[in-house]
Amino acid sequence: MNRVFSGVQPTGNLHLGNYLGAIRNWVTLQADHECIYCVVDLHAITVAQDPAELRASTREVAASLLAAGIDAKTGILFNQSQVSAHAELAWIFNCVARLGWLNRMTQFKEKAGKHRENASVGLYAYPNLMAADILTYKATHVPVGEDQKQHLELCRDIAQAFNSQYGVDCFPLTEPLIFGEATRVMSLRDGTAKMSKSDPSDYARINLTDPPDLIVKKIRRARTDPDPLPSTPDELESRPEAANLVGIFAALCSESVEAVCRRFDGAQFSTFKEKLAELAIAELTPITAEMQRLMDDPAYVESVLHDGAERARNLSEPVIREVQEVVGFLIA
Ligand code: TYM
Repeated sequence: MNRVFSGVQPTGNLHLGNYLGAIRNWVTLQADHECIYCVVDLHAITVAQDPAELRASTREVAASLLAAGIDAKTGILFNQSQVSAHAELAWIFNCVARLGWLNRMTQFKEKAGKHRENASVGLYAYPNLMAADILTYKATHVPVGEDQKQHLELCRDIAQAFNSQYGVDCFPLTEPLIFGEATRVMSLRDGTAKMSKSDPSDYARINLTDPPDLIVKKIRRARTDPDPLPSTPDELESRPEAANLVGIFAALCSESVEAVCRRFDGAQFSTFKEKLAELAIAELTPITAEMQRLMDDPAYVESVLHDGAERARNLSEPVIREVQEVVGFLIA
């Protein structure tokens, strides 16, 4: 059986990287998979969060997902903290994963930076919780952007280590699904840095809440080099900013980078950026409008999450029971 699971953190606005790298693919997969999508608030508190803002962001991210086309009726959409199985299994995985494995995680190194000694233990153990998210549902496929690849390799290592330690065939070896032309969307200000919510410059990203005139401005100001568009993708290799914009364009119109290069061969970036802004606005405006509508009805959004959590809990319960049995917990 194929089961899809993925998650997104409720820390600020979703941006074009989240959308093209992950969320749009989540929507596509719904057509022929059982899908479970999660707003991961337990992950969010690995760095300090204001409680009121966390609650608001959880609603807002859920609204964005619904607005982007996540179907919470055939699939499941919920926030992580409502299903205690995630935290429970994460503890068991804390006892399976090795320090050496976590020490290799590049995301921890980037996020903790120079202040490693001050990082929370939760930030360090974060990938174990991610593995628990996925394996609580024995999910087989996980659609993510390129930056999550290493965490998903760890998830496979944990599943394998658990199975072999206890001599069982309990957890599947989950496959990452990283597809589309924008698996790693870069900052609009620096083609070597990932587009991210935490970038201090708002001009580095396009948020799903940005109005059309701001999208135009951000794309106009996006960094490029003085050369025109090339005829082939090879020529983009040493031009990170140009490659990023062409990749975004290709993803937005569901064409290959090669086809976009052919179409714009020799064009100036000023012309290309206008077309790119038009495309981005056409794709994002309906999502933004629907999101605003949903944000005016927080009770509805919460009811969706509540219903999703109940269904997620039902799926997780037999898995947790099985794990308790395997590990040797006495269930009186
Ligand atoms: P998060 O919240 O950082 O991002 C959510 C999704 O968006 C993708 N993404 C990007 N894709 C392309 N270009 C970018 N610049 C970009 N930025 C973000 C991410 O790859 C991700 O797919 N740890 C995860 C959340 C998580 C999770 C899980 C994912 C928790 N548990 C279990 C999968 C399965 C995270 O912080 O994603």
